[in-house]
Amino acid sequence: MSFLIVDLCGLLAAFLFIYGLKRMASPVTARSGIRVAGFGMALVVLAAFLYAMHVTPAARPHLGTNVLLAVIALVLGLGWAWWRGKRVAITAMPQMVALYNGMGGGAAAAIAAVELLSHEALTALHLGVALAGALIGAVSLSGSVVAWAKLDGRLRKPWRIKGQKVLNALVLLAALALGLAALLASGGPGPGLTAAFFVLALAFGILMTLPIGGADMPVLISLYNACTGLAVGLEGYVLGNPALMIAGMVVGAAGTLLTLLMAKAMNRSLANVLFSNFGDVSLASGDDIQGQMKPAEASDAAITMRYADKVIIVPGYGLAAAQAQQKLYEFVKLLAEAGVDVKFAVHPVAGRMPGHMDVLLAEAGVPYDMIFALEDINDAFPDTDVVLVIGANDVVNPAARSDKSSPIYGMPILDADRAQQVYVVKRGQGKGYAGVENALFYADNCNMVYGDAQAVMAKMVQAVKALGDAGAA
Ligand code: TAP
Repeated sequence: MSFLIVDLCGLLAAFLFIYGLKRMASPVTARSGIRVAGFGMALVVLAAFLYAMHVTPAARPHLGTNVLLAVIALVLGLGWAWWRGKRVAITAMPQMVALYNGMGGGAAAAIAAVELLSHEALTALHLGVALAGALIGAVSLSGSVVAWAKLDGRLRKPWRIKGQKVLNALVLLAALALGLAALLASGGPGPGLTAAFFVLALAFGILMTLPIGGADMPVLISLYNACTGLAVGLEGYVLGNPALMIAGMVVGAAGTLLTLLMAKAMNRSLANVLFSNFGDVSLASGDDIQGQMKPAEASDAAITMRYADKVIIVPGYGLAAAQAQQKLYEFVKLLAEAGVDVKFAVHPVAGRMPGHMDVLLAEAGVPYDMIFALEDINDAFPDTDVVLVIGANDVVNPAARSDKSSPIYGMPILDADRAQQVYVVKRGQGKGYAGVENALFYADNCNMVYGDAQAVMAKMVQAVKALGDAGAA
């Protein structure tokens, strides 16, 4: 009976994970989706404790100590995650996701290590699955930690050496050879073989991630996320735990889809992400751009928008960095009250993580019907009076359409340059994440409003309010 309750908890949790994930598909229901999936996770943790209570005493000689250790780990993990989650800046979210993802891979690898070193005889199939999960989980752990260090600015330059790909291939082959030896070892792999296998798997994760440029870290994290899910699913099979299997497969499938979608949004193959030098400044093109950047005052830009019929706002990473979303929406409300038709155009890879801009705009209270995806709004740019590009760069770079030598050539972009007038808000001459120059900034129909996005938006709000006050007086 009690095992039935444990299994039912697992089944219900699996259903909650899938239902939660479905709700995360829309910004309107995403918050509740996270709560639903979190509830499923709590349920499955409870089921794990219930299971431990009901296995035969012979199978749980150290139950008291193990439960105590598990509770300590839970309290520490929950406390740390709660504390960090409350404090993390929205711009540091990708780093946090990288770390949490790495921990998932590490947990799967740790389960595998326990199984490999346990004295219980595993079947060849179970041993093989445990080893596969161990390899994938360990690569995901060390790779995610390197990705975290890159995103957090602790590792600034891609580390590339001659013969890197050969070295990586040799380390992977050596790890696979040790895995095979562990599979064939009579009486199971000993601690020495297991440790050597893990060292090589961890080394492969580090070596594979080090040469990849910072711009590709979000795609890589998503890929490691898929790997973590797969590793967890495989270890779920080894433990005979269906909830772990389903959760792992859901994460694996979602991570794979997200990775492919991000690569598609940048018009690049996964192999290109993993093995090219995207974001390497030495490859940047754009030296032949004609013209010069023309500065404009924030107040002039604001007044032009106030008297326009149609305005499109293109947000990018700089909006998140400046935390200017509230001020931006205050400005948009003033324009809308004055009868201007205002829309937001969100590029699928604007910012530094999937849905980055949607989260920011939702946080500021922007209604969802004002927010348009690239494919739904691109045709509207030629018919638009003013485009306000705020903290975005690569996602409006026309080189992606026309310059075959550009590293971002082929990436679908928002056609902001086709509007009548464009204002670009940025602090100075900083390049986008891909490290390439942007011809839009030099175009005849474009003016630069220099400054931190939040300060610029405050000035724009002030300018439109002053206009209203003057009209009323
Ligand atoms: P970026 O191309 O990174 O450009 C951001 C611009 O914001 C910079 O040119 C910078 O110029 C400006 N900026 C920075 N801080 C600012 C501040 N406080 N106030 C005002 N401006 C500020 O951004 P994007 O257009 O959003 O493009 C995203 C890039 O990330 C793409 O290359 C994309 O492929 C890559 N990427 C994204 C993802 C996801 S999932 N979002 C995944 C992988 C890769 P200044 O320094 O002059 O201010």
